[in-house]
Amino acid sequence: MKSGTYVFTPALSAPTTGLKGDFRMPGDKSLSHRALMAGHLTVGRTVIHGLLRAGDVMNTLAAMRSLGSVIEDRPGGADEVIVNGVGTGASKEPEDVIDFGNSGTGARLTMGICATSVRHAVFTGDISLRRRPMNRVTDPLRGFGAEFYGREGGLLPICVKGATDPRPAEYRSEIPSAQIKSAFLLAALNAPGESVFIEAEPARDHTEKMFSAFGADIRTEIAENGEKTIKVTGLPVLKPQKLEIPGDPSSAAFFIVAALITPDSEITVRNILLNPYRTGLFASLREMGADLTIFNLRTVGGEEIGDITAKSSELTGADIPADRAPSMIDEYPILSIAAATAKGDTVMRGLKELRVKESDRLSAVLHGLQTIGVQARLDGEDTLIVTGGKIPGGGKVKTHEDHRIAMSFLIAGAAAEKAIEVDDTSFIATSFPEFTPLATQAGLCLEVREKTKLYVCD
Ligand code: S3P
Repeated sequence: MKSGTYVFTPALSAPTTGLKGDFRMPGDKSLSHRALMAGHLTVGRTVIHGLLRAGDVMNTLAAMRSLGSVIEDRPGGADEVIVNGVGTGASKEPEDVIDFGNSGTGARLTMGICATSVRHAVFTGDISLRRRPMNRVTDPLRGFGAEFYGREGGLLPICVKGATDPRPAEYRSEIPSAQIKSAFLLAALNAPGESVFIEAEPARDHTEKMFSAFGADIRTEIAENGEKTIKVTGLPVLKPQKLEIPGDPSSAAFFIVAALITPDSEITVRNILLNPYRTGLFASLREMGADLTIFNLRTVGGEEIGDITAKSSELTGADIPADRAPSMIDEYPILSIAAATAKGDTVMRGLKELRVKESDRLSAVLHGLQTIGVQARLDGEDTLIVTGGKIPGGGKVKTHEDHRIAMSFLIAGAAAEKAIEVDDTSFIATSFPEFTPLATQAGLCLEVREKTKLYVCD
């Protein structure tokens, strides 16, 4: 969705039991963005199956078109998206402002592409994205010779003045962020010579894996202390690929937790991406006593995937270490709902990065939990402690234009004693447009009017 196209949509989620279902989740969001970008930087036909058709990814698709790719989009039947890309170092100057809607990944990674391949581009986004810091990517990208002009604090809208004669760069990041790393690596692919990115604390490695599959020369060394050094050779001639995008574990997380925290429930989610940098939630839930079975493990396109069955479970609190945060960074809102039902305290450490997500998620989760009668508090700057047992419910949760806050508290309503109201669910479409129909199909008791369709709970 472009900024300004959201239709304010409040919703109610009432207590329920007996959730059931066997679902295929929509395509992984991180891989969907990268697939379009890899296709864009490749001359020839890249064929993508299972692309996530959600607002964030559709904005990236439009952005790649504006940078010169010819993209054939065939929803339904074959469900293929075909990207006829321009190659590395050959993006076209966009004729208009590029609007990334809600997507930090789309905006930051595309900024990497533009930093070393176009002379001029203007980036903007929706109310949430315009609040998020961009200097975390513009700082490293300056090393290639790019310049950025924007609002105070590095906020969108930003005008990118790409390096006309890019040089290779080196950057060390102390923030565990795949978006910072990926923006840098994409810029490096358009610059001659070897660029080096050092990650003190590694984050998801989809960019390295996907572009290596397209033939890029990307070498990773891991030091004994876990620090990663990634070397990229610029201006490769990439080879078009046929890609299958597996299901998004961050979307599956809502259905898995829903089954765990409501009585008499069993839900299976199929074809889920199980990259080790994405599975921290499953490890944490298992430590809390979750009945989770992961099966049908296989490798597709260099990524591990599998199916997961979750059954109603008596959860107990756990101590979730800070070093697990990069592998479950998007899952803390839904983990905190599981924690609200778990006996005792769940301590979640190392949550600083949650402050700069689609909302200040640490504060949104804390206040949301308190609104529905759950005891939650901060310990220091970045530790959240939830004292669980039951969810009293009632109250109206503020979602702050954040899709994951909205979905998490709709799931909370299923396990609560009283229905929970969520102030706005329109942002769910940025990542998971099928959420309401699938959740209703699983047995969630939701009342929401989405566009022309009214969901009413019996
Ligand atoms: C993403 C990386 C994460 C994550 C986001 C998607 C990606 O952000 O929160 O939803 O696709 O690279 P950070 O890398 O900034 O932590």
